[in-house]
Amino acid sequence: MTPSPIKSIISAADRIFIALDVDSESDAHGIVEECRSFGVGFKIGLQLFTNAGPRFVSQLADAGHRVFLDLKFHDIPNTVAKASVEAARLGVWMFNLHALGGGEMMKRSVDEVNEAVERETVVRPRIIAVTILTSFDGVMLNEIGVTVPIGEQVIKLSTLAAASGMDGVVASAREARGIRQAVRSDFLIVSPGIRPANATIDDQKRVTTPADAIAAGADYLVIGRPITGVADKATELEKILKEIDNSSR
Ligand code: C5P
Repeated sequence: MTPSPIKSIISAADRIFIALDVDSESDAHGIVEECRSFGVGFKIGLQLFTNAGPRFVSQLADAGHRVFLDLKFHDIPNTVAKASVEAARLGVWMFNLHALGGGEMMKRSVDEVNEAVERETVVRPRIIAVTILTSFDGVMLNEIGVTVPIGEQVIKLSTLAAASGMDGVVASAREARGIRQAVRSDFLIVSPGIRPANATIDDQKRVTTPADAIAAGADYLVIGRPITGVADKATELEKILKEIDNSSR
């Protein structure tokens, strides 16, 4: 089954994935309940997946939520391609791999997911590549032996991801303009490291406000602690949605 058109954005809520970075299914359900009426998507990352497992992922997807499975696969091409097929079978709307895993790993994963979708009753998820984590700065990149500036490295990995058939990348909104110029226009940019003007930045280094991220060309925003870390999550989410709506008028 083919997915709905990749860029079918209709509202600010469509653009948001709330990161369910919590240590129990019940805490995750609490956040979903508080935010579900807005129509936002939810991101399940390593912590919750390790705690609650694939059953929780498919439950959330089966309940009609858009699920972004953020497990950042990075292994040999065969292993990642097989894991990608399993992610698709869970019914997720989007999942990701590390572009640093290389072109062959990305290409094989896309091909095997496409084949599985043809064979089985599975809706094809968007498959996106992580470029450089938004918690990295130039010094940290240098520490692991990458001496080119972050922006250049992100564009190099985005170009490779696009050439390997990926649907988009995860990248800081600060790099969105450069990516847009380097790759095809329907390539998705998913940006974490989002912080409303009054929020603390936590361990993120390259942060952007929600409105600035959209203005820079990000299609989707991943937002965790600014929403999940406050008592009144719905009010905070509503503020962010308004900020995006007002800025796109
Ligand atoms: O709490 P915060 O808004 O910083 O959460 C950001 C989320 O996005 C986390 O779940 C983190 O794992 C994820 N992420 C990221 N940088 C990437 C890819 C994913 O921060 N490049």
